[in-house]
Amino acid sequence: MLLLVVAALIGVVIIFQAFVRKPESQFKLANIPAGEFDPAVWGKYYPLQYESYRKNLEMSPSPTGFGGSEKVQKSVLEPEILINFKGMAFSKEYTEDRGHPYAIQDLKETKRVTPASPGACMTCKTANLIDIYKSKGWQYAKTPLPELYPLMKHPIVCANCHDPATMNLRVVNPAFVEAMQRRGIDVKKATREEMRSYVCGQCHVEYYFEPESQKVVFPWEKGVLPEQMYAYYQERPAGFDQDWLHPDSQAKMLKAQHPEFETWQNSVHGKSGVSCADCHMPYVRKHGRKYTSHWVTSPMRTTKESCMTCHTQSAEWLLQRVKTIQGNAWQLQKVAGQAVARAHDVIGKAGNVAGVKQAELAKARELLRKAQWFWDIVAAENSMGFHNPDQVLNTLGQSIDMAHQAAATANKAANGAF
Ligand code: HEC
Ligand code: HEC
Ligand code: HEC
Ligand code: HEC
Repeated sequence: MLLLVVAALIGVVIIFQAFVRKPESQFKLANIPAGEFDPAVWGKYYPLQYESYRKNLEMSPSPTGFGGSEKVQKSVLEPEILINFKGMAFSKEYTEDRGHPYAIQDLKETKRVTPASPGACMTCKTANLIDIYKSKGWQYAKTPLPELYPLMKHPIVCANCHDPATMNLRVVNPAFVEAMQRRGIDVKKATREEMRSYVCGQCHVEYYFEPESQKVVFPWEKGVLPEQMYAYYQERPAGFDQDWLHPDSQAKMLKAQHPEFETWQNSVHGKSGVSCADCHMPYVRKHGRKYTSHWVTSPMRTTKESCMTCHTQSAEWLLQRVKTIQGNAWQLQKVAGQAVARAHDVIGKAGNVAGVKQAELAKARELLRKAQWFWDIVAAENSMGFHNPDQVLNTLGQSIDMAHQAAATANKAANGAF
């Protein structure tokens, strides 16, 4: 009898393991101390994950021809960038992003950073944020960045995403935790599936620095659509009026930052519960062992593991589909960027016309601020439209319309001079 019960129990456990458990990879938990940020130390215990993490050091173009991990200047193919960001740091340097291990090096090397840059800039570049925030609180954001350099010992490493004691996923960026809280979401209660995107949402998002405190804030209180984030900025939160004043058009401009997390959220994949990690950190196999790839790069290098777990089409079909989506977005992004550049020019010239109607001109500047935001929120996103194809085309369509309206309004203000 007892034997039968034991056999039944074992049977239940086997069935449970086979059907109920998620297909997780197996690993032996090591006891890594809380203050250990060196990925090589973590790597001694988790060699497969570490080895794949090291691949983030490789640099090569992406299979789609967009993105990629080489440091190319975006303004080579998009010269309108130099006009639209005139008067601010992104016109000095704006390179393609590359792998996580380069985050600190690229921060130090970019011409966008000066000795006067605030400490807030390091928020998304280093795991040492954890101890720096612990000792200084948000005060670190105001500290001059070069003063923090000696404390920034490691770039984006294991500790940014994992609790060393349990290896559970975790989020450590206080700006993310606070922004989610303001949306009524307690990240401590997140499911494992949600955490597979939240770890990336710590950094791959739109943000601004609050005036005075320099605190990092994500503008999500009204929602994460381009229109909703714009509406948030229109209320001039904590007196935040502009990122910079454009020297030609004299419009108060906003600079958008890499909103991958926001763009993905309302997409077909986001709404179907497909996480960032599903595509960018797929399960792979080595010597019969299944583990999570930590080579966080273009999923089109691993189409079989990244896409074909769900999709039945061939790898070639999927690549062509991605390229078509990106080609469509690229085409409209160029049109929008150029329409915006032209509006800067027309408004700038209208401003010099004697007897220009100032109220009308102010309206043109407001339209331009919004048109550029709608262009930039797509241009600054790193998937070239793939993360949410229909939303991206809608956003660019609106940008083009508003840019034309801005130029027409300026022309009217200048009594049809142009
Ligand atoms: C950008 C975030 C991120 C970073 C950085 C990161 N990981 Fe992970 N890691 C993940 C995700 C996502 C998973 C999948 C977890 C899940 O689904 O429960 C994972 C899973 C794991 C697992 C569980 C076994 C497996 O393969 O699924 C181990 C062990 C691990 N990572 C080790 C490391 C080590 C070691 C480093 C540093 C060299 C590291 N991770 C860096 C996000 C990250
Ligand atoms: C601590 C902040 C942070 C976290 C967490 C983070 N990223 Fe990044 N990510 C960055 C930064 C910064 C860069 C650009 C680094 C550079 O160019 O030097 C980057 C670059 C990338 C790239 C470009 C790589 C290349 O080779 O072109 C991809 C893809 C990426 N991240 C995806 C993800 C995904 C997916 C996650 C979550 C699993 C994630 N990131 C988590 C900050 C972060
Ligand atoms: C359905 C799969 C899928 C999901 C889900 C997904 N991505 Fe992507 N991502 C892609 C593809 C495809 C590209 C384009 C790659 C290319 O052009 O080679 C991309 C590009 C990127 C890039 C630019 C890479 C580069 O080479 O510069 C970043 C960064 C990125 N994704 C981050 C994220 C983040 C963060 C999330 C979650 C909020 C996410 N992705 C969700 C498929 C996905
Ligand atoms: C975890 C499952 C899953 C993964 C992984 C996944 N997808 Fe999807 N994908 C879906 C679902 C669900 C849909 C919605 C349509 C459907 O039900 O077939 C979808 C729709 C699409 C669409 C059409 C919708 C649109 O936004 O244009 C494309 C294209 C696509 N996926 C490409 C990819 C590519 C490329 C990858 C890998 C980088 C990928 N998918 C990874 C589940 C997935």
